[in-house]
Amino acid sequence: MTGTGADAGRVVVATGGASGIGAAIARAFAEGGDRVAIADIDAGAADKLAREIGGTAVAMDVTDPASVAAALDTVVADLGPLAVLVNNAGLVAGGGLLVDLPIEVFDTVVSVNLRGTFTVTAAAARRMIAEGAGGAIVNISSIGARQPTAGLGHYEATKAAVDALTRTGALEPAPHRIRVNGVAPGPVHTPMTAGLMADPQARAAWETRIPLGRIALPEDIAPLAVFLASPAAAHTTGAVVQVDGGQLLG
Ligand SMILES: NC(=O)c1ccc[n+]([C@@H]2O[C@H](COP(=O)([O-])OP(=O)(O)OC[C@H]3O[C@@H](n4cnc5c(N)ncnc54)[C@H](O)[C@@H]3O)[C@@H](O)[C@H]2O)c1
Repeated sequence: MTGTGADAGRVVVATGGASGIGAAIARAFAEGGDRVAIADIDAGAADKLAREIGGTAVAMDVTDPASVAAALDTVVADLGPLAVLVNNAGLVAGGGLLVDLPIEVFDTVVSVNLRGTFTVTAAAARRMIAEGAGGAIVNISSIGARQPTAGLGHYEATKAAVDALTRTGALEPAPHRIRVNGVAPGPVHTPMTAGLMADPQARAAWETRIPLGRIALPEDIAPLAVFLASPAAAHTTGAVVQVDGGQLLG
């Protein structure tokens, strides 16, 4: 994906950028000429992808504010001021009906998806405000925030909270020309969903919910993240846009 145009060469941090959707997003920004930092708890995988796309790897645990601060400081020192943050790190951590779900699973998902997004957003926005050059933040949500699937209530609640953070995050730093938007994918083929998709019945059940008839690829999601971070989206903030093959129409 190219098309970042005059803005190419920006410093972009993608959390959870070592795998799946985050990796496709990191690759798309790098192909557009941006300087991409792949910030992931899996430092080995981040390193491998960084070498492949000409980016930089940085170890970051989004649930740990000290780790987030240290990683962002490293990025700024090595690459320059932060222009774009993609809050992509997230997990499901298992499924279960609300009445059955172990509270530990709930806590894990809240910690990575919600607390992590909150922590990295605050740390990055503080640095963008201090720099005074504006910035763009893109949160990777899920259509599950708006359409329930039995067994995923814990996950969907965190994504609905991410959408709320997207709106408040857009409102508060708007005077500093910092924009915050969201991308809400439907189901996507990634390591997160590989187990589910390997079960033909489960896969078919998901596919029948999608008017365009197929599960997305990470490359279907990345272009919207690049667009929302680009100057072409200069007047778009607080929006959460679905990429779901029409699933929300059902
Ligand atoms: N795959 C889907 O169907 C789908 C659908 C909608 C939304 N999403 C969202 O897209 C995002 C990426 O999902 P994916 O399917 O590519 O998953 P994935 O499992 O392929 O990749 C997730 C990445 O996040 C990293 N990560 C996990 N915990 C972390 C932490 N504490 N700190 C830093 N990095 C951490 C992992 O190491 C991994 O590299 C998630 O936010 C997910 O909720 C996925």
